Formats: sequence, structure tokens, C-alpha cells
Amino acid sequence: MSQSYELLNPILVGPVTLKNRIALAPMVVMLASPDGALTKRSMDYYVRYARGGVGLIIVEGTVRDEKEGKGVPSGFAIHNIGYVTGFNKIVKLVKDQGASIVLQIAIIGQGDLGWDSEEVRKQR
Ligand SMILES: Cc1cc2nc3c(=O)[nH]c(=O)nc-3n(C[C@H](O)[C@H](O)[C@H](O)COP(=O)(O)O)c2cc1C
Repeated sequence: MSQSYELLNPILVGPVTLKNRIALAPMVVMLASPDGALTKRSMDYYVRYARGGVGLIIVEGTVRDEKEGKGVPSGFAIHNIGYVTGFNKIVKLVKDQGASIVLQIAIIGQGDLGWDSEEVRKQR
């Protein structure tokens, strides 16, 4: 007897067909370098979800401009073109697994809790 699981069926979202309805919620996991660049660990983290069958990966809240607040230590940033290039690697590896990927832009603004202040850095 064949059974169809709706969760595992493809779904069209705008112009993109997701291979299933399983999505990874954006979660800052602090695996980037201290200044926000891609690391091997951060790349492996996302690729592992894609290999596990997740249809849509929403990359954690990523700081687009340091002037708008720095976010948490080792959270992702894309204020440097080199960091954007780094993301291309994740995108390719995730797509190779048939998953889709988007990136959440974070504008920290007044939510900047001073993680990057001298005082907090000394406590780390
Ligand atoms: C460690 C951690 C980091 C998170 N980072 C983000 C984030 O970058 N962006 C975001 O929108 N939500 C973030 N969240 C919230 C999760 O996405 C949220 O908890 C998840 O969507 C589950 O939803 P719920 O809390 O309503 O059950 C984070 C949650 C955790 C536990």
C-alpha cells in the first residue's frame, strides 16, 4: 500500500519549487568567525541539514551593515564582499543536495546589546 506524506511533497513558493515542506528556521548558532565570516564549521552545519533532507534552509539573521549594529559574536555578516563570496560555497553545496536556501537579513539597530563592546569582550 503506498502512502503519500504531504510533508514530503514538493510545494511551489512564488517562482521556486521546494522539494518538500520541511524548513530550517533561522537560528544564529555563532559558528562564524568573530567578525562574521564563513567558517568550515558554519558551512558544515548548514550542509548537514541539506543532506538530512530539509527542503528549505533559512540562514540565520545576518548583519548587512556594521553601522546598523553588530549582532552577536560569531554571528554571520555580509558587509564585506569576501563574506558574500563565502556564502556562495554554502549555496552550491546545499543546492547540490536538492535543497533551497535563503538568507535572513538582520538589522540589529537598537537591539544591539553591545556584544562587541570592550567590556563584553573582556568577559569572554
Ligand atoms: C539559538 C537561537 C537562535 C535564533 N536565531 C534566530 C534568527 O537568527 N532569526 C530569527 O528570525 N529567529 C531566530 N531564532 C528563533 C527561531 O527561529 C524560533 O525559535 C523558531 O522559529 C521556533 O519558533 P517558536 O520559538 O515560535 O517555536 C532563534 C532561536 C534560537 C533558539
